[in-house]
Amino acid sequence: MAFHLRLRGMTGSCHQLTRHIHIPTSTPTQTQTQRVTVTATRNWGSSYRHYSQARQWNTRTLATVSDRTPTPNRPVVSSSPGFLNFRYDDRDVNVKRTKLPNLWLRDNCRCSACVNQDTMQRNFNSFELPELIQPLRIESNQVGVRVHWSETTSHESFYPWEFIEHYLKFDKRSPEEVQVKYFGAYGHLDSFVECEEIESNEAAAVGRLTDLIRRNGFAFITGVPYATAEPTQKLLEKIAFIRQTHYGGFYDFIPDLSLADTAYTNLPLGAHTDTTYFSDPVGLQALHLLSHVGPELKNGLGATLGGKSLLVDGFYAAGLLKAEDPEAYDILSSVKLPWHASGNKGITITPDNLYPVFENNEITGKLHRIRWNNDDRGVVPFDGKYTPWEWYDAAKKWNEVLRRKSVEYWFQLRPGEILIFDNWRVLHGRSAFTGVRRMCGGYINRDDFISRWRNTNYARDDVLKRVIG
Ligand SMILES: [Fe+2]
Ligand SMILES: [Zn+2]
Repeated sequence: MAFHLRLRGMTGSCHQLTRHIHIPTSTPTQTQTQRVTVTATRNWGSSYRHYSQARQWNTRTLATVSDRTPTPNRPVVSSSPGFLNFRYDDRDVNVKRTKLPNLWLRDNCRCSACVNQDTMQRNFNSFELPELIQPLRIESNQVGVRVHWSETTSHESFYPWEFIEHYLKFDKRSPEEVQVKYFGAYGHLDSFVECEEIESNEAAAVGRLTDLIRRNGFAFITGVPYATAEPTQKLLEKIAFIRQTHYGGFYDFIPDLSLADTAYTNLPLGAHTDTTYFSDPVGLQALHLLSHVGPELKNGLGATLGGKSLLVDGFYAAGLLKAEDPEAYDILSSVKLPWHASGNKGITITPDNLYPVFENNEITGKLHRIRWNNDDRGVVPFDGKYTPWEWYDAAKKWNEVLRRKSVEYWFQLRPGEILIFDNWRVLHGRSAFTGVRRMCGGYINRDDFISRWRNTNYARDDVLKRVIG
């Protein structure tokens, strides 16, 4: 069967084979140049008639417009009312769909007229597009598909094959796969970046730092000046701005030195996550022990000051719980709880919704975020598929797993080393200590951390693909 196909081989700057497929807006069956009268279809009825116009084209039946000399490994493109159709000659290609809606395609045009190239924001009104927009012409080559649309003002869109084929095979874009490396009692020995490295090659070093945090759950910046807190703040701000909370932003806590003469004990803190009471709990927490001065010691004997730090890989611990007691894991994933911060006068903070201890990704089922601070937990509710006592039982088991020697990573914070950890995954605590500790640190939003990680680890095009689709 004859059809009009113009081949332009190895011409132009791109040296690619370009196929021009002329699409009619009607259903004539003869290959000819003619004025076309639109025939209504069952699917589109009178509105299809309304949007289609009699035009002069080299024509053939819409449903069978195709190219018998397809670009190698790429599907053959054709058009039918409302859709572009894609047919692979290779039967082994697995696709979820063989057609993409015209309106959807037109809405996803990323040309410089449709997307503001400075802001990357859509620059046209999707809802003013003709509902039954049709292609007037399709050209495909090795790079992608160009479509000339039947709008009142003609418009041309280009879709790279990567985009087209992704949506033939999948429903949407998925987040990047991150190879998480769990840690137990020994932590990670190689999870650090030198301060010097950040100063000499910021983008690469911040990329490595944020990637270490994503994979390992925590990382140190070593070799940081510690006479003042300022260098710490500047380094954290290289990831993203410090988050303000009702406690303030970046903090540099210098205890009242009059206390320094009195040995005082700071109580141990069990493993917990911070800010369970926010709808969007803080993404990163950073701690830098600037100094730890001991009290005057009686008898002149040395003593350990204590104050060891504790990190627990919550994802690892939750995996243990899930393997040993799947129902306990399910209970902690299902029972939604109130969380609160009510200790400061005039301030009561609680998330927008009740949240379970474990939040799992809806698609992958993988654990995504942990909220765990029993001191900030509200009342266990009676609704839902589990009773409060079932929740207490599960929580007790979780608490037991968190306290195992094999999951607790104990270490000493030292001046010159900033610890940064993922507060959605890693729980933290400390042992009791004496003396006076000067600590500084701050929180960073999850979204801003991930943005920085993406932009320092992936090319701009890859980042846009992930976040736009
Ligand atoms: Fe904390
Ligand atoms: Zn466009």
